[in-house]
Amino acid sequence: MSADGPTMQRPAAQNWEEIPHVTQSMLLTVQLPRSEDEVLRKRNPSDDTITDFDTQWSRYTDNEGWYGSDELLEDILHPLLNADALAGQAILDIGSGTGRIVGMLLDAGAEHVYAIEPSEQAFQVLLRNIGKMERSEAVTAMHSTGEQFGLSRQVHVAVSIGVLHHIRDPLPVVRNAYAALKPGGHLFVWLYGYEGNEAYLRAISPIRRLTPKLPHALLRLFVEIGYWALVLYRAIDRVIRLPMHTYMEHVLWRLSPGKRRLVIYDQLNPAFSKYYKREEAIALLEEAGFRDVQAHHRHGYSWSVLGRKPSIAESNQSGGHCSNRPI
Ligand SMILES: C[S@@+](CC[C@H](N)C(=O)[O-])C[C@H]1O[C@@H](n2cnc3c(N)ncnc32)[C@H](O)[C@@H]1O
Repeated sequence: MSADGPTMQRPAAQNWEEIPHVTQSMLLTVQLPRSEDEVLRKRNPSDDTITDFDTQWSRYTDNEGWYGSDELLEDILHPLLNADALAGQAILDIGSGTGRIVGMLLDAGAEHVYAIEPSEQAFQVLLRNIGKMERSEAVTAMHSTGEQFGLSRQVHVAVSIGVLHHIRDPLPVVRNAYAALKPGGHLFVWLYGYEGNEAYLRAISPIRRLTPKLPHALLRLFVEIGYWALVLYRAIDRVIRLPMHTYMEHVLWRLSPGKRRLVIYDQLNPAFSKYYKREEAIALLEEAGFRDVQAHHRHGYSWSVLGRKPSIAESNQSGGHCSNRPI
């Protein structure tokens, strides 16, 4: 490690990819050589989800505006976690995409952020975006999956925003997050909710049978149709209150038109999306050993879930009292 911060460890592999635009001396990256990357993908059960995001994140690369803002982080975490409590903490972000959550966590004062992203193309964009962040030396980016990554230290908080609902069997990821946390540390996840989305699911499910199979250009056509349908929906919603009103006003309509299109693309693109019922969301964390699991129905369409890894004392004595207080 240099005086300026961690330096990139680079094995002597011939096929190691060069990453332009990133101040590599300031950013510790752990990237697999090409051949190992292929092995990782073949072995991983969530392969299709990972490759689905290759195209998405090479087309939608920036995290500008409300979409990547501190305000949105507060909105996502509220009321289970306070963004102020993240200052000085070591934080793990599972499924970082292009790094919008990484940037938010740095802005919230995280001491260090470990960013896990398995998609090859997303990882390249992630590195470039981290390179542009003010405290990029405080980030370790790992090209790995949530099931397979390992850290050299335990962290205070782990987050996974909009990721687990795209993984067919997310329990190994949640177990790995548990292992990465210090005793007493917290896992926060955000998931699509079933409750509140019933009408939406009836409308979108037949369309989604086709859209994940489409090439990007055709999918963009569907996105454009969806975008103008959404504009019409919102116009009606402003006169007669329709389902999803809170989400439209508090989240979707605060995004730029470009980012609203990304949200639609993100709905139509992944081959697998699960809409969680409250008890399923809670059970996912409890099954991995988390305690005091709390769920919040965010804006009436999704679940934010927080769980706490027991302290060493709690682990040693069964039936001990568990604090319900977030970090
Ligand atoms: C909808 S994006 C969310 C990105 C980011 N968390 C955000 O909120 O902007 C889901 C991300 O999860 C990643 N992902 C898919 N399968 C994964 C797995 N098994 N482990 C970790 N990440 C995964 C995808 O590559 C993709 O970048």
